[in-house]
Amino acid sequence: MRVLTDIATLRQEIAQQRASGLRCALVPTMGYLHEGHLTLVDHARALADVTVLSIFVNPLQFGPQEDLATYPRDLDRDVSLAEHRGVDLVFAPLAAELYPHSRPDIMLAAPTLTDRLCGRFRPGHFEGVLTVVAKLFNIVQPDVAVFGQKDFQQSVLIRRMIEDLNFPVRLEVAPIIREPDGLALSSRNVYLSDDQRRAATSLQRGLQAGQAAFRRGVNDAADILAAAREPLSAHAEVQVQYLELVKAQRLEPVTAAEAGNVLAVAAFVGRTRLIDNLILA
Ligand code: PAJ
Repeated sequence: MRVLTDIATLRQEIAQQRASGLRCALVPTMGYLHEGHLTLVDHARALADVTVLSIFVNPLQFGPQEDLATYPRDLDRDVSLAEHRGVDLVFAPLAAELYPHSRPDIMLAAPTLTDRLCGRFRPGHFEGVLTVVAKLFNIVQPDVAVFGQKDFQQSVLIRRMIEDLNFPVRLEVAPIIREPDGLALSSRNVYLSDDQRRAATSLQRGLQAGQAAFRRGVNDAADILAAAREPLSAHAEVQVQYLELVKAQRLEPVTAAEAGNVLAVAAFVGRTRLIDNLILA
């Protein structure tokens, strides 16, 4: 496995592989890898010959009050985990390599799909995500890119970007990997104290309560959301930012629930913001 930090060398390396007819998959991450990221690597390896894992804490997608400075980082550990999992190339650039002029003059925006869920509360976040992912697509030129369902709105926006801007990339979205007690794996879980860690399972319990209501035949979205809210309001430490039931493609809120709709939650547990979601079935 090679670890590269500059765009030119990465491009050369990938061009060589491609010249010998190999297909390339990209797994973009911000590092501090966990099993969720590593299962994306498994998907990538099943879909292509060469797996590129990018590790870059993208300053463009953090708001001024957010955790850019404290976001957990451990490149040595990440490199070792990636190597054991069969990654072929790690691309870990410094910010100056991707953003030589600090903030780029040209960025991507998604005016219609960012006015709900996380987009409502994180102005500029998805512009930062789309811009860095478009750059990574242009740098790596992967045949396949693998993202997680954990960041549901992100995966919807990347799908739209690929279609609307004609990127020749196939998108694969992999299921959410969880701890045994249901908490979705996240690099940010390390911020949680023991008490908060226990309280954090209420996100998943809320989503499951919504799912259970739907399975009992409840269709009114307001009733499903009320069922989901109950476990979430049991802990003073858990402050819900949003709890919404939306259509999977355009993220519009629904009033009558159907299978395939997405129940999504964001909540602060202490000062840590966590997200989770579930597809009604
Ligand atoms: P990051 O939060 O590091 O996540 C990288 C990828 O891992 C994303 O596609 C995310 O959905 C996926 N992922 C995270 N936790 C997961 C879990 N528990 N189960 C399955 N997949 C999981 O998402 C980003 O980074 C950034 O926004 C990025 C796309 C890299 C752009 O900067």
